[in-house]
Amino acid sequence: MAAHILVLPGDYIGPEIMTEAVRVLEVVNRRFNLELTWEEGLLGGAALDVHGVPLPTQTMERARAADAILLGAVGGPKWDAVERHLRPERGLLGLRSELGLFGNLRPAILYPQLAEASSLKPEVVAGLDILIVRELTGGIYFGEPRGIRVLENGEREGFNTYVYNESEIRRIGHLAFSLARQRDHRVCSVDKSNVLEVTVLWREVMEEVARDYPDVTLSHMYVDNAAMQLVRAPKQFDVMVTGNMFGDILSDAAAMLTGSIGMLPSASLDRNGRGMYEPCHGSAPDIAGEGKANPLATILSVAMMLRYTLANPEAAAAIEQAVSTVLDQGLRTPDIQRAGVEAVSTSAMGDAVVAALRT
Ligand code: NAD
Ligand code: IPM
Ligand code: MN
Repeated sequence: MAAHILVLPGDYIGPEIMTEAVRVLEVVNRRFNLELTWEEGLLGGAALDVHGVPLPTQTMERARAADAILLGAVGGPKWDAVERHLRPERGLLGLRSELGLFGNLRPAILYPQLAEASSLKPEVVAGLDILIVRELTGGIYFGEPRGIRVLENGEREGFNTYVYNESEIRRIGHLAFSLARQRDHRVCSVDKSNVLEVTVLWREVMEEVARDYPDVTLSHMYVDNAAMQLVRAPKQFDVMVTGNMFGDILSDAAAMLTGSIGMLPSASLDRNGRGMYEPCHGSAPDIAGEGKANPLATILSVAMMLRYTLANPEAAAAIEQAVSTVLDQGLRTPDIQRAGVEAVSTSAMGDAVVAALRT
């Protein structure tokens, strides 16, 4: 299927990891005759520097026209002082919201070769394969009213609104349950319904959705316990479904189980399966420009794009296999480095994946 992709490298390590992901895209495009075309656009700080806004109109228009979007990462200290509504992260949030990308899939899979890189004991994480389904266009990230106001006594007060309506909960529920059907048929819904009304509703609606999936088991867990269980016994989970902020936090924790946040890809889907694909990590300003960034999360995001939007599971599997091959070969960027073995650079890791894909 011919398709057009918008590539948004973003800031700091964004362009470094994207260079490698695009090389991988070039190789699969040729090897599988995918007829994919792509163009680069500006988002985040990179867009702010050129156009004065983090999500320029031309980026938004190209994003709407594209079949899929591949994103690096945005943000960083260079733009810490800009006004809140111009922050690079607002560009990313705007894209997610404008495109209706409500369904964020964050699969935490342990490559067996990386058992030693995990921060947990190998036996606790061996065989780990969980899917966090995070609601991405609602919740406290987007709730109104929000802001910082000055009270009568002159003190400032910051406020956000945690809100979900039934239809938002229902659609993320259906996505999670239908994905569980392709896996181990178990959904754990994560909430804070012992304290927050919005998640009392969340729990009720999840129960309603579950009735349509009698073959899938639904359980519930409070988010604090879920954070604990993720580091105690993560293999108990199959699909975890949760709101925007809880999902953001839990997916970073889950990332470390797989060895590094540099290994975790993601898909953000709309109701038609169109999507944006990006690593779960940020722009890593602390290592930018040093060739230390792990490009595998972004490369694996290309695989997710091929699977979920471009309907080419064969090409997706080839990328995942190539990643496994380079890990077998012992290649490690510093974040997944093994004691006594020299780490490789971002581009050397990209070279190796490209070579593995060609053979
Ligand atoms: P971060 O994920 O950028 O970095 C956290 C730590 O993980 C750092 O030590 C970093 O070096 C390391 N790390 C991240 N990605 C890595 C990779 N591919 N390889 C090796 N190490 C990696 O989180 P942060 O430092 O809290 O945020 C930095 C900036 O990124 C902020 O502006 C934040 O808002 C932004 N951010 C953007 C996205 C996104 O674009 N989707 C996601 C998260 C954070
Ligand atoms: C992520 C990031 C974003 C989020 C930020 C950069 C807006 O942390 O994609 O996980 O919080 O969703
Ligand atoms: Mn995050």
